[in-house]
Amino acid sequence: MNEQLIARAANYDAAGMNDFLVFDNVSKHFGGTRAVDGVTLGIGRGEVFSLLGPSGCGKTTLLRMAAGFEVPDAGRILLEGQDITSVPPNLRPVNTVFQNYALFPHLSVRDNVAFGPRVAGKSKSEFANDVDAMLHLVKLGEQADKKPAQLSGGQKQRVAIARALINKPQVLLLDEPLAALDLKLRQHMLAELHTIHREVGTTFIYVTHDQTEAISISDRIAVMNAGRVEQCGAPREIYESPRTGFVASFIGDTNYISGTVTNGLPGQLCAVNCGVLGELTARSLEPLAVGTKVRVSVRPEQWWIALEPEPPNAIRGRAEDCTYLGSESRLRVRAGDQVFVVSTGHQTSLPASNAEVWIGFRAEHAVVLPVTNGA
Ligand SMILES: Nc1ncnc2c1ncn2[C@@H]1O[C@H](COP(=O)(O)OP(=O)(O)OP(=O)(O)O)[C@@H](O)[C@H]1O
Ligand SMILES: [Mg+2]
Repeated sequence: MNEQLIARAANYDAAGMNDFLVFDNVSKHFGGTRAVDGVTLGIGRGEVFSLLGPSGCGKTTLLRMAAGFEVPDAGRILLEGQDITSVPPNLRPVNTVFQNYALFPHLSVRDNVAFGPRVAGKSKSEFANDVDAMLHLVKLGEQADKKPAQLSGGQKQRVAIARALINKPQVLLLDEPLAALDLKLRQHMLAELHTIHREVGTTFIYVTHDQTEAISISDRIAVMNAGRVEQCGAPREIYESPRTGFVASFIGDTNYISGTVTNGLPGQLCAVNCGVLGELTARSLEPLAVGTKVRVSVRPEQWWIALEPEPPNAIRGRAEDCTYLGSESRLRVRAGDQVFVVSTGHQTSLPASNAEVWIGFRAEHAVVLPVTNGA
């Protein structure tokens, strides 16, 4: 990993200390494993903030530190400016929804939801209205007397959400809450979570390794890799302007074209010599010196495809096979010694296999990424 690049990304993302919840240079080791390594992030009040990254990158560990189940080795966690780093979990205004729901099997839906207020010593008459409101919020009013074993996966997950929200936490932590559900139900529950968030306005920190989930639910996303935050920003920014190769390939599919910078003025389009594929231009997110080794990242849907060249950024190739994926088709095009994946949308007249085609992209659609040691 290029330390300089990561440090720059970290500075760029550095938390404003006025944010609602702040991770200030937080680290956690387990033996020789750096589970979380110097993470600085600021999360706004009422935000849906996702931690996105591959298995083992430290998402759960960071969440557990926010909940108080783990204490950082270094750094601080602030909530509304108050240092809560060593405040025990039960004294933090923070609740967690786990992937496996962790419901009490012997209690009814209603009693599961009432668990928090009951433990807090409230009487039934005090919390009965809150329980009804929560059951209504998660649309489980009719299932109130059932036991968890009589519920579907999605219904169990809603009980878990209601049980957490009834405590009126300032922050709701959700650790892969939909991972156990099938695709259709996951999409449905995501939409419901959106609605619930709109109604309660609580700050959500949402952990997932699923980029589609993160993109669709989040105000902002932090992409994590090996214990560190590589980039933090709005979904569109992360997708369209990835700052590292890791982010570009983790969040969506991309094609890389290697080359050397021939003109890289700051804030301008960057010209890259790509050998047999010619000189290509794309956006550079930072000034790049002439001679810098880079990769141009072009997403499948950013290519145009034609029978004639449309300069600039036109590449001559040969159509290989095409895969029909329902919502789009993907054509593989061989050019030079590379094969590029081109999304053709709903286009029906696709080039025959082995036909000569031209593919290319608009300079402002693709980004130039410096090649880092780890790339
Ligand atoms: N209690 C623990 N003891 C030892 N190592 C741990 C412990 N908890 C986590 N780790 C290690 O720390 C790293 C980060 O783990 P973490 O659970 O935070 O990852 P994650 O991003 O949540 O992964 P996943 O997507 O698989 O849930 C991993 O290498 C993991 O093996
Ligand atoms: Mg995890």
